[in-house]
Parts: sequence; C-alpha cells; structure tokens
Amino acid sequence: MNVMVIGGGGREHAIIRKLKENPRIMNLYALPGNGGIAADAVCVPIGAKDIAGMVDFARQHAIDFAVVAPDDPLALGAVDALNAAGISCFGPTASAAIIESSKVFAKHLMKKYRIPTADCHVCVRLEEALEYLEDCPLPVVIKADGLALGKGVVIAKTREEAAAAARAMMEEKIFGESGARIVLEKFLTGPEVSVLCFTDGETVVPMVSSMDHKRALDNDEGPNTGGMGTVAPNPYYTPEIAKVCMDTIFLPTVRAMKAEGRPFRGCLYFGLMLTPEGPQVIEYNCRFGDPETQVVLPLLETDLLTIMEATANGTLDQVDVRWRDGAACCVVLASQGYPGKYETGYPIQLPETGENEEIYIAGAKLEEGRLLTAGGRVLNAVAAAPTLSQAVDDAYSLADRIHFTNAYCRRDIGRRALAALEG
Ligand code: AMP
Ligand code: GLY
Repeated sequence: MNVMVIGGGGREHAIIRKLKENPRIMNLYALPGNGGIAADAVCVPIGAKDIAGMVDFARQHAIDFAVVAPDDPLALGAVDALNAAGISCFGPTASAAIIESSKVFAKHLMKKYRIPTADCHVCVRLEEALEYLEDCPLPVVIKADGLALGKGVVIAKTREEAAAAARAMMEEKIFGESGARIVLEKFLTGPEVSVLCFTDGETVVPMVSSMDHKRALDNDEGPNTGGMGTVAPNPYYTPEIAKVCMDTIFLPTVRAMKAEGRPFRGCLYFGLMLTPEGPQVIEYNCRFGDPETQVVLPLLETDLLTIMEATANGTLDQVDVRWRDGAACCVVLASQGYPGKYETGYPIQLPETGENEEIYIAGAKLEEGRLLTAGGRVLNAVAAAPTLSQAVDDAYSLADRIHFTNAYCRRDIGRRALAALEG
C-alpha cells in the first residue's frame, strides 16, 4: 500500500512511526514532513495547505490512503478533495471539521444538543461585546471564533483586559477574520483532561486520556504555547468520569454531528474540564492533539492503519482497540525564547533510543546531512514505562541526552499528575 501523511510536526512523526509497524505499507510519504521525519518517510515539499498539490501527488503516486493530521487542511477541505479523487482518508470533511474551525458552531451545537459546556454569549459586533463585558462575572474568557494557532483564547481578570482583548480581536483583527465573531464564556475551574477519540461517525472509541502542559514555564507560568509536554493516562480521569463523558459528551457529540448532516470521521479531540458540576467541554479539535498524540500512540497496541481504515469505512465497531498498561511522558525540547522570538539553525545531537523511548522531531531541517533546529518546538523526548513516575524519569533522562544550542524544556512535566496520584 502507498500511504501519505499530511503535516510536518511531532504529532505527524508519532503517527508515521506507528503506521510503519504495519508491513502492508510499502511506501510512506510525508507532505511536507520535516528533517527528522525524513528518517521514517519520504518527505515531499508540498505544503499542508496546498490541497491541489496533495491531490496531484496522490494521483501520481497511486496513494491508497491519506492521513490528514493538521487543522488547516481539514478546514480547507483536504479530505473532501482527496475523497473526490477516489482516495480514502483518515480525517473529517470540511463540513465536520467546522467543530474546531468555528467556536460559534461548536457552542451552538452543544447548546442545541445539551452537551455540558460553559455558558456563553456570542458577539458579532464590538459594541455588543463591550456592553456585555461591562457587568459580566469575572474572570471572563474571550475566544475568537476561528482558528488562531491556539492563541485565540484570553482569560481576562479585569474589565479593562477583557475590553482590550475584544477590541484586539474585533477591531484590530489580530487574528484576521477569525475574530469577526467572538465568544464570551463563563470561566470554569477544575483539572483539565484531553481525550482523543477514534470515530467513524457512529462508533466512538476513546483513546488513553492525557494531560497537556500549555504554559511556557514551570508551575504553569508564562505565556501559552502549543504545548510543552504531556502525560498519559491523566490520573484525574477515573473510569467513573470516563463513563459520564462517554454518555453525556462523546456519544452525544458524534450523534449531534450526524443529525446535523455533518458525520464526523477521524479523531475527535475533547478538551474537558472536570468542574465541580461535572465534566464540561472546553474545546473540540477535529484532529489528533499535539503533543497529546506523542504520549497516546506509544501506548496503542492495535495496528493504527487498521483503526484508521475502519474510521473511513464505517467499520470501527469491528476493531478491537487495545492499549498497553502503564504510562507515557513527553517532554518538549524547544528553542529558548519560544513562544516569542528564538534563534534556529543549530545542529541537533540525537542519542540512541531504547525500546520504550521515542524521539519525535517537530521543528528541524536537514542540511548537508545534518539535522538543524528550525522551529520553536524542536522535538519531543517520549518514554513509556509501567508507572507514570518511571515514564517521567525516563523521558527526562532521554531529554538530557539530546543536545542543541539554546535548548529549553520545562522541568515539571508530569509533576501535577504525580501529585494527583499520590493525593
Ligand atoms: P483552547 O484554545 O480553547 O484550548 O483554550 C486554551 C486554554 O484556555 C484551555 O486549555 C483552558 O486552560 C483555558 N480555557 C478555555 N476556556 C475556558 C473556560 N471557559 N474556563 C476556564 N479556562 C478556560
Ligand atoms: N495540545 C492541544 C492541541 O493540539 O490543540
């Protein structure tokens, strides 16, 4: 079989490593991939937003199956275009990907189908937003409607901050058209859990839960990033809570999408907050999370391609999806300064990896055979072990064997999860 994966970060590297376990795959391509992925797949310089380019490539190289991993191509209709060219895909069509690309859509869906989420107020005009912000409870959460590289959420503690965020989104248009509409949302509290689910539009198979660490600095300080590390499973996500989530959130969401004529196939990501009133949806993503995928897939026992094909064919109920016992930890090594300004172009020295260790490359390029840093989040040091405590230790010992100038990582990935286990 010929398989192509769209995207070029650590998440895509993790997907590619897992797919490679399947001997049916003869040729594996990454569009565009990156300098590190090049060790595991043939990287093709076609951008993840170049839909016409990927369709042409798929036709020319007799691609049998495509995995579309990032949000942009999904929202732009990559799956629709590939399907129209006769290529089976893992990932939702654009009409279903809207669950991530429009927060207004997602909020309306949850309201209509009574899926628990924070109360909110949708605004299409700045005056409306400013008026609401004059006497709403604080803190208040302000979200741009559209995709904003994970930066479209502001938690405002004061009215001035809230008004400034609304102005920045709606008047100054810092996220372009993504801020044409905004959602003003009630501030929720509680532990956060990420749950990725495979779904074929009917059957929902949750993956092992995980915990992201979104802030740049230790103790959850500093600016928000794309994610500085993850652990799986998330100790707050007990079997009892998992059942509640399945019954009140996962199945209702998948059924709602079907009822709306937007059946969702692929990976549906639930960003949850376990509030004192029960689990509530903070966000939906229409794809695998990054860096959640990097801790979830190493714990997957079942063949990934088989599951992905079943989501596309509507036969997920026939696949026995199994997970390894134990835990995994991912430490992101970033360029010092990320998510702000940082320097790149430094050579990366990679150690040998053991059986339960993985290094996934996120932001690096190959130049004359040398792997050089080329992004904010450079790579992921991942370890799986029988216990979370061991996985955390192993991930850090791996991270400490990787070297490049200006490397930075948080030193407390997993600390909160370990405290919860002990508590
Ligand atoms: P998002 O981009 O939607 O994942 O939001 C980024 C982060 O903002 C989330 O991971 C939460 O930590 C926080 N957040 C979003 N919505 C709320 C809310 N309603 N209450 C409290 N925190 C929130
Ligand atoms: N780690 C969160 C995301 O992928 O959006």
